[in-house]
Amino acid sequence: MANRWQNTLSENDVTPEAAFLNRRQIMAGGVAGLGLASGLGGSPALAQEALDPNDYEDITQYNNYYEFGTGKDDPSRYADQLTTTPWSVKIEGMVDKPGDYAFEDIMKAVTIEDRLYRFRCVEAWSMVVPWNGFELADLLDMAGVQSGAKYVAFETALRPDEMPGVKFPVLEWPYVEGLRLDEAMHPLTIMATGIYGNDIPNQNGAPLRLVVPWKYGFKSIKSVVRITLTDTQPPTSWNKANPREYGFYSNVNPEVDHPRWSQATERPIGGGLFARRVPTLMFNGYEEEVASLYSGMDLKANF
Ligand code: MTE
Repeated sequence: MANRWQNTLSENDVTPEAAFLNRRQIMAGGVAGLGLASGLGGSPALAQEALDPNDYEDITQYNNYYEFGTGKDDPSRYADQLTTTPWSVKIEGMVDKPGDYAFEDIMKAVTIEDRLYRFRCVEAWSMVVPWNGFELADLLDMAGVQSGAKYVAFETALRPDEMPGVKFPVLEWPYVEGLRLDEAMHPLTIMATGIYGNDIPNQNGAPLRLVVPWKYGFKSIKSVVRITLTDTQPPTSWNKANPREYGFYSNVNPEVDHPRWSQATERPIGGGLFARRVPTLMFNGYEEEVASLYSGMDLKANF
């Protein structure tokens, strides 16, 4: 098909798989991730531990999937409980063919391999990850987006029997996310079903999760069960939890600080124990591809 995305990054840019998984240690401790980052760059001891690439036990103990709990061991203990087969995604709202789309049928869409994307976390670390999956646009085309639809809303499975974390109101459940339709249809926006050539681990959002490489990682909603086409801007979990700190767009933007820390630089994971911070790129390096989506918009107001 025409217009498929071409990688500009190479194998040499890829974050080693062990480091990709192990970086969770950086976020570990209490309500992992969002909010704890302030001291991140300045802790060599933590950095050293975090970047040890060999300890698989540690690697799989650290994750960021609050439905399984916010304690550092919770996802490794509980994510296995998530039943990922059978799986289907309900597509509804402003589409011609609403209904339940079985995962196997979805996978008949054009699959893609090794999209090497920069992944920039709001805590100011970054990676390059090889994803497999398909372009979200292909799935939306299967359902037939109606004219008048302006946004796409996403919802994660909510299974109290399988997700021990959802009994705690750390977020409002189910986890939800949203994109503007043009963002969703952009060829860079994918639904990932694998990483590093393997099926995506449950902790990372099996069997399919969103990846939008010019946005902060928390937009990447995991284990999606519902997609709704709508003409109104949908709510997003982190915006509901803390609207001052997390906006709808969440585009990577070195010029717009998080209220509690700068977003001007990042620390690449896997670049050595004391990897230097590097300048963060506008739209995470995808400016050429996506800047036009936001022309004329005030990105400080629409953060
Ligand atoms: N999706 C769900 N359903 N629940 C979550 O807690 N965490 C988000 C995002 N998607 C989250 C989620 C956050 S904060 C981040 S940084 C990324 O997933 C982490 O994805 P990764 O573990 O694959 O890197």
